[in-house]
Amino acid sequence: MVFCLQRQKIVIVGSGLAAYVLASESWQHSDVTILTKNTTNDSNSIRAQGGIAAAVSSKDQWHLHAEDTLKAGVFHNHQKAVETLAKEGKQVVKSLLQQGFPADRNQHGELLLGREGAHSERRIIHAGGDQTGKYLIHFYQQILQGKITIIEGQLAVDCVIEAGECKGIITMDQDNQLHTYTADHIVLATGGFGALYETTSNDPSATGDGIAIAYRAGARVSDLEFVQFHPTMLATQAPYNDLISEAVRGEGAILVDQNGREIMKGAHPLENLAPRDIIARVMMTELTKGNRLYLDIHQIKNFQTKFPFIKSVCEKNNIDWQQGLIPVNPGAHFTMGGVETDLQGRTNIPRLYAIGEVACTHVHGANRLASNSLLEGLVFATRLADYLKTQSSVPSSSISLVQPLHHRFHHPDLHTLRKQMTNHVGINRSESGLNEMLEWLVKFTIIQDNYLSRYTTSRDQIQMQHHLQVAQLVTKAARKRIESRGAHYRVDYPFKSEQWENKRITYQLTKQGV
Ligand code: SIN
Repeated sequence: MVFCLQRQKIVIVGSGLAAYVLASESWQHSDVTILTKNTTNDSNSIRAQGGIAAAVSSKDQWHLHAEDTLKAGVFHNHQKAVETLAKEGKQVVKSLLQQGFPADRNQHGELLLGREGAHSERRIIHAGGDQTGKYLIHFYQQILQGKITIIEGQLAVDCVIEAGECKGIITMDQDNQLHTYTADHIVLATGGFGALYETTSNDPSATGDGIAIAYRAGARVSDLEFVQFHPTMLATQAPYNDLISEAVRGEGAILVDQNGREIMKGAHPLENLAPRDIIARVMMTELTKGNRLYLDIHQIKNFQTKFPFIKSVCEKNNIDWQQGLIPVNPGAHFTMGGVETDLQGRTNIPRLYAIGEVACTHVHGANRLASNSLLEGLVFATRLADYLKTQSSVPSSSISLVQPLHHRFHHPDLHTLRKQMTNHVGINRSESGLNEMLEWLVKFTIIQDNYLSRYTTSRDQIQMQHHLQVAQLVTKAARKRIESRGAHYRVDYPFKSEQWENKRITYQLTKQGV
């Protein structure tokens, strides 16, 4: 019998659900460190409201969930990834419930399953009404208490690549000091890039850092043109928005204009539960005409019990939800593309992995089905943990930091970048708008080098380099895909094209192409 005596070192960058699941499945046999940009309370996962989709009901079957996922993704999905998500998702969620996750149940102890757009069954497991993400993160934080190392305030800067393998990660703390962390396995769990848009449900930290770092290190990034806009964010002047969960429409809320006209009537057979991209575009047309939009919640009984978080968010923003109308706008919510991985979470760079929203297993295709993102975190982090258990430790590497050259970069401010992304790479895209965006981006320095840490010791500059890198890749991909599919809508090519069927836009620093 062979005993593996040496504990492996795993460094996870990011502190959303996928990071915590991997840590909880790995700490018994590995030394796990989580590095997070701000605090462990800053992630998209913790904000997730709707829930976790899984075919756990006796009326449901995993293949029906898989079919709904494929339809929502306009069959741009990787079929095997979808089957894995739906089939293993059912098991992973059952095991989560067995571990004691406090999902909402009725007085008989049966799970209360929610309904969301494009699902053929009620299959959304939720907790705390509309606070599933918060409950999940707190659940894992309790399990992991004292078992792993967590270091906050670490902005990831570069992957350390030696002899073609990832040996570590360079970070910068809040005092602009660089640090290196070496490990047997480096896992990116940094989330998506929805916060690069003006109206967004995302945490401000969700700026695609992992995509920029991995790309500069030579990893393949794919499907970046597919950005999901969620129809209902609370309409306020805040720079980052609160989500009004799709579960609210699942319970009967209706989108109306200021005159009470139902805007989804006649627009799609599923009306208020039509795919998110379709509703978001209808809303954009209404907003462009100068109309204001609301969720009419009159028909929802016990709104405050079902949606306690949304109720409190309305109250915080002085919106009297008891009048039955919540003002809403569409905004960036989820990014389907990211760092390309296989179904184990492996990128093309040995010992560099990606899980959660930063990863692109192609499971979501051109548009993610509601409540499949927490499920993605659960399933693919568990798979990566299982894979890493079969691996062995490598001799540790001693990485020395190079003295930075202190370049002065010409950069835009974040507010302007978010505005440009919204105007040109948002819900409606066109060749002229995308060209305008690329012409704007060329005014700024975008370092195409593996080691950004050699150029500056300013955290703001590094952060903006990540933003610009991601913005440029997303814009290029959106310009290249001259068709409309799922969440990617081109006003100048408004239909799906056979030519683009099964074609992926993938970028790698040395090679580019479809
Ligand atoms: C929501 O609660 O509407 C969001 C759920 C999701 O994006 O999966």
